[in-house]
Amino acid sequence: VFAHVEQVPGDPILGLTDAYNADSRATKVNLGVGIYYDEDGRIPLLAAVRKIEEQLAAAGRPRGYLPIDGLATYTNATRALVFGAESELVAAGRVATTQTIGGSGALRVGAELLAQSLPHATVAISNPSWENHRAVFGAAGFTVKDYTYFDAATHGVDFDGMLADLAKLEPGTVVLLHACCHNPTGADLSQAQWKQVAALLKERGLFPFIDMAYQGFDKGIAEDGAAVRIVAEAGIDSFIVANSYSKSFSLYGERVGALSVVAADAGQTKAVQSHIKRIIRTIYSSPSTHGAALVAGVLGSSELRALWEDELGQMRTRIQDLRSGLVNKLAELGAPEFNFIQQQAGMFSYSGLSREQVEKLRQDYGIYAVGTGRICVAALSSKSLDYVAKAVYEVSRG
Ligand code: LMR
Repeated sequence: VFAHVEQVPGDPILGLTDAYNADSRATKVNLGVGIYYDEDGRIPLLAAVRKIEEQLAAAGRPRGYLPIDGLATYTNATRALVFGAESELVAAGRVATTQTIGGSGALRVGAELLAQSLPHATVAISNPSWENHRAVFGAAGFTVKDYTYFDAATHGVDFDGMLADLAKLEPGTVVLLHACCHNPTGADLSQAQWKQVAALLKERGLFPFIDMAYQGFDKGIAEDGAAVRIVAEAGIDSFIVANSYSKSFSLYGERVGALSVVAADAGQTKAVQSHIKRIIRTIYSSPSTHGAALVAGVLGSSELRALWEDELGQMRTRIQDLRSGLVNKLAELGAPEFNFIQQQAGMFSYSGLSREQVEKLRQDYGIYAVGTGRICVAALSSKSLDYVAKAVYEVSRG
């Protein structure tokens, strides 16, 4: 049966971790995958998470099956976090939120749902986008197109190009948008630009699918969620938001995400939810308990929530400090052209390094970055900054 099966290339992001783990050099640095590491190179266990975990362990909870769509306290808290506590859509019963296996699970379940409902399953993703967007939608049967997004000359958004491309899409096309901390470029839209995009999506009958994997990693929970509220306020009757707690709660391996589908009225929303449950039942039946219980426990306690927001703020500030540290060191070495790294939002920097330069970083220095030149700034530390800056400087000078 498998005699003709040929090896396919490893995942462009997660495959880097395998290569990094196999590298025996003591100086190696993994700037590939999007994970926040602390000064000691460890993935932090947030104090708010530790506290709720202790409480849950002491309570000795039984581990029955969760409902197909997940833990209700988790989905309710997520809805409020993503749409805002005062959301009119939520009050009108127009948001169906489902616990999913990470943000990737939300994307895939959402894509499966749309593939069933759309006359032509076409999605437009930003150029560039997270490597997995194309693969996830492709696997759900979508035709995947690009829309202009990044301007390599300014290291910012080519907004006119983006609007022009969106305006050419056929009505009913799904448009995948990054709410904040654009992955991989770190180049985000301003709120004024979001309003223009939302108006265009409505006018053209395009379907917004917002991926929000980094809420709280740029400016704060409410600020980073602005895109969702702007799309809601534009009066678009149906759209989707996929969100993830991997980064914001440092709960990567717990796979805690959610899919929120907005439909035109409460009746439609209920019907949509029944389809989502059917999709999930045929893939993994129901989600797992632990990660969702942690997030629900923290968000449901005003004391733990405040502690979490404080810890999230500390991660955010430290990433900004790492950005300036890198920029300053590169400037000291004589490479001020990297100053733009300071302006980018979130975990990543689209460094502008070519595939060959990335390869050289890996071969000569044991520094792992995504082939497109994306580096994870949140994986740097004050200990690795000098080494990484020197290496980036050297490869950039050929
Ligand atoms: C990333 O882009 O590195 C993260 O979102 C992790 C992943 O699954 O790719």
